Amino acid sequence: MTSYKELGLVNTREMFKKAVAGGYAIPAFNFNTMEQMQAIVQAAVETKSPVIMQVSKGARAYANGTILRYMAQGAVEYAKELGCPNPQIALHLDHGDSFEICKECIDNGFSSVMFDGSALPYEENIALTKKVVEYAHAHDVTVEAELGVLAGVEDEVASEVSHYTRPEEVEDFSKRSGCDSLAISIGTSHGAYKFTPAQCTRDPKTGKLVPPPLAFDILHEIEKRIPGFPIVLHGSSSVPQEEVDTINAFGGKLPDAVGIPEEQLREASKSAVCKINIDSDSRLAMTAAIRKYMAENPGHFDPRQYLKPARENMKKMYIHKIIDVLGSNDKL
Ligand code: G3H
Ligand code: 13P
Ligand code: ZN
Repeated sequence: MTSYKELGLVNTREMFKKAVAGGYAIPAFNFNTMEQMQAIVQAAVETKSPVIMQVSKGARAYANGTILRYMAQGAVEYAKELGCPNPQIALHLDHGDSFEICKECIDNGFSSVMFDGSALPYEENIALTKKVVEYAHAHDVTVEAELGVLAGVEDEVASEVSHYTRPEEVEDFSKRSGCDSLAISIGTSHGAYKFTPAQCTRDPKTGKLVPPPLAFDILHEIEKRIPGFPIVLHGSSSVPQEEVDTINAFGGKLPDAVGIPEEQLREASKSAVCKINIDSDSRLAMTAAIRKYMAENPGHFDPRQYLKPARENMKKMYIHKIIDVLGSNDKL
């Protein structure tokens, strides 16, 4: 048993309390590789932002859960080395799908876990979330739960259709499950293809897809029913067109990739939404930089040569999100 406290990590309780009161959101960036971890830490230190580093089931399968745990521990030490004496870094399990996986992560140094029972019947979701909460709280670990279903397809997260969160359920759910934060569904979805062209309109000038707006009415109704309760948005990459264009210009093929417009995320950050999940934008930033580098330097084969610009590009993206979208800079 290793407590996250021994590793210098923090849970999300204080982070969320301050974020809700201050009208900003904490970035929750997924990581699978050392370069992503370094870029996240550099961005958080340079902007003086708290940060959540999150690990999906796919990340555990790719990189190994133990290695990722040590990388998060390394992230704390790295932040100190970069000149941040008291970094606020949470290590979070993203989309935990069983009590056992949540327990394993808590026992191995995670400071926060998500139990995603969103696909389960309502009462089962409450019962299993509650079981995770009881174990987690005994170790001072915070728990994110989910109500409502996001559309989109990822390695480990798949649903063809979305069901918006029903505001009339959130009070009962949060009270009875005891969760510390609640992920809701208001029109975001996972991946780089969040909307089909049929769901969008087209900008007559650029020909680019314009997605339908998020359901802010549902968000506001939820806020009314559980005032000040920390709300989480998954599937919040904005799929920057310049990265998609770079990928496509250098041999990639991502036609009609579309995300959530940043103005809407900026707006959501000012509400009780206090955690915003971003994964796909990091993948796009990395892939765009690597494709460009490879195309321009066909004779290079040392991975450090192309991973360096990839890391720089991800860092630039993380800094942009922190300062220009979520507003979590200067909050340490
Ligand atoms: O919510 C999904 C995340 O983007 C993680 O995706 O399972 O492919 O690592 P992944
Ligand atoms: P994106 O695919 O929009 O980056 O969402 C990531 C996410 O929600 C991780 O849980
Ligand atoms: Zn998610």
